[in-house]
Amino acid sequence: MIRSILQCMNTQDCIATKLDIREFSKENVPSNIISTILNSARYSGSGLNTQHWRFIVIKEINNLKKLSEDSTSGQWIVGANFAIIILTDPKYGFHLLDAGRVIQNMQLSAWDNGVGSGIYTGIKDEKMRNDFEIPPNLSISAVLGFGFPIKSISGNKNRKSLNELMYNEVYGNSNNAS
Ligand SMILES: Cc1cc2nc3c(=O)[nH]c(=O)nc-3n(C[C@H](O)[C@H](O)[C@H](O)COP(=O)(O)O)c2cc1C
Repeated sequence: MIRSILQCMNTQDCIATKLDIREFSKENVPSNIISTILNSARYSGSGLNTQHWRFIVIKEINNLKKLSEDSTSGQWIVGANFAIIILTDPKYGFHLLDAGRVIQNMQLSAWDNGVGSGIYTGIKDEKMRNDFEIPPNLSISAVLGFGFPIKSISGNKNRKSLNELMYNEVYGNSNNAS
């Protein structure tokens, strides 16, 4: 039901209503939506169009448990329907910027289909590399967990006002900021 209300949002609504969630329903996310989410990552732009990112999709509960054990700040991942590990190549100075772009695209694409998501970055690096056979040349930038929300989550973001965030023409000039 939550899904049907949320579908067909425009981009601004999608950005404005998406929240990070850490509790998910047991309902499976259909494979066509998972493909849509992954393609939204693939379509993302990267520095020099290097497309150095790689994604590991985790659906099996045993591996979700391993992810949870390998985490310092995302133990909730065990309750996700599926997870995506985002790997990037640190030889590019901009690799984390590229990671952020695919992450945001995937989360918005998911939400556009009524699928909630959360992110974590706290990991036990060596353990996770061993468990998921991640090569040493790639950084583990983040892990995303996805699933249908268990309750309505639209709305209330805790955000600063634009007046606190933006200036006109030069840093610090808040006159007429709107
Ligand atoms: C770079 C980054 C790292 C984050 N790391 C974690 C994390 O380790 N664990 C976690 O539960 N949430 C993590 N979050 C989620 C943030 O806490 C969340 O995006 C923020 O509180 C805003 O949530 P909201 O959009 O639902 O208001 C991270 C978010 C970002 C952008």
